[in-house]
Amino acid sequence: MLQNAIYIVDLGSQYTQLIARRIRELGVYSEVVDAETPTDQLLRARGIIFSGSPDSIDNESRIDHALLTGGTPVLGICFGFHMLCNHFGGEIGRHVEGGEFGSALIEHTGESELFREVPRAFTAWMSHNDTVRNTGEQLRRTATSTNGQIAALEHTDHRIFAVQFHPEVSHTQQGERILRNFVLGVCGCVADWRIDDIIQAKQRRIAEQLGEDSVLLGLSGGVDSSVVAALLDSVIGKRLHAVFIDTGLLRAGEAEQVRETFGKHFNLDLRIIDARKAFFAALKGVADPEEKRKIIGRLFIQQFEQAALELRDCAWLAQGTIYPDVIESSDPNLSTKSKVIKSHHNVGGLPKEMKLKLIEPLRDLFKDEVRRVGEALGLPGELVWRHPFPGPGLAVRVLGEVKEDYVEILRQADAIYLEMLAEAGLMRKVSQAFAVFLPVKTVGVKGDDRAYEHALALRAVQTDDFMTATAAPLDHDLLAAIATRIVNRVPGVTRVCYDITSKPPATVEWE
Ligand code: XMP
Repeated sequence: MLQNAIYIVDLGSQYTQLIARRIRELGVYSEVVDAETPTDQLLRARGIIFSGSPDSIDNESRIDHALLTGGTPVLGICFGFHMLCNHFGGEIGRHVEGGEFGSALIEHTGESELFREVPRAFTAWMSHNDTVRNTGEQLRRTATSTNGQIAALEHTDHRIFAVQFHPEVSHTQQGERILRNFVLGVCGCVADWRIDDIIQAKQRRIAEQLGEDSVLLGLSGGVDSSVVAALLDSVIGKRLHAVFIDTGLLRAGEAEQVRETFGKHFNLDLRIIDARKAFFAALKGVADPEEKRKIIGRLFIQQFEQAALELRDCAWLAQGTIYPDVIESSDPNLSTKSKVIKSHHNVGGLPKEMKLKLIEPLRDLFKDEVRRVGEALGLPGELVWRHPFPGPGLAVRVLGEVKEDYVEILRQADAIYLEMLAEAGLMRKVSQAFAVFLPVKTVGVKGDDRAYEHALALRAVQTDDFMTATAAPLDHDLLAAIATRIVNRVPGVTRVCYDITSKPPATVEWE
């Protein structure tokens, strides 16, 4: 038996990794495995969970009977619930009336170990078209939704449980308690899995995957690629070749920080490529935001191709793809088996002829977990907790044509803004903050003289997932102090505005 492991059989739900994450939060090791994994291997775990799926039950949806009678506890969620019911002779209604989406009130019978210390009635998140019409003889109902649907079942002889709702999503009030009851109670796992264990498991996997090979890593200075750098460095050391492209479109001090952290502290083989001229030359005269993005994307590819040519022994390209990128860049039916590359990532459009194999060690982690891994690997706090920064850099924050002097004004103003937010202790309270250069001129008075200079906008947003966002309600006095300092210290600026639009209808970036 695998010490303390829960296997999650991936049937294609977009929540599969969320189940894994919830179990990690309980302090227990979990692994997402393929639906084809052999029974004898699955039975080595302390417990097995069948995930949901976008599919409907059909004759192909079978579970090996030996798996269900092998003594290892089983929990089926949503589609997993239908599969178990189907296996034991229950009846499933396909796409019939009774599908439930969103919140539902559930009432349990008080007899199941799964609902120990769970209030008799609780709200749970549902997302199903198919329903269980009757349980068959070997299963008994342990909970019902107020819509009259069977919401939970268990086997009368074996330690087999199933729920129609999703205990892994945060909208299910007692979800954590229910998963805890299964993992720690029914399966008897011990909560001893820590962030260091995640790191060690990733290190072992990287060592297996790479053997003696070398890796090329595009380091952007952002959190995700930095954590990949630290992780790979801890396993392959000198066989990691990192490339940082100075596009001229970076925030103040960015190249220096990367050099300091990775060149000096980690002693990484780091190439900083000064491509500023190439980027500004290519962007000359271009005002359209999509055109700017395309030009920058192409230039990044050229730079990486060049680096790969020079580093002939590199067989792999490492990317800092994290789980939300995988979900966001694909359709909701994505299974972890799908190969999706972060669509807006710098190197997402890497040409096939490069023949580099892709290694993405953070692909199953969420942002906060990536940050914890980074901290545990010794990355500085200011790097690990920094705000997201778009691949095309300040080019999306200088509206219209990207000119060097505009970028310089923006860089200085942005640095003042972020420094004052940090002094006020607000950097971790807002999700993302930055300045935007507006290519319009506006009249001001500096000293006794008329000034006719540029305007800037400041943006700060609060969001969980960046899909929607609200403007942060920054204190008026603080905003006034920031505006005064920017106008006093940055030549060429007469006016500063604060953006109070939410997303939607605006986006986070101005472009
Ligand atoms: P929008 O402007 O679409 O931005 O509301 C949402 C989040 O995504 C970031 N962003 C990018 N990140 N490459 C990235 O890695 C990009 O091309 C890109 N464009 C926007 C943006 O900063 C915000 O956090």
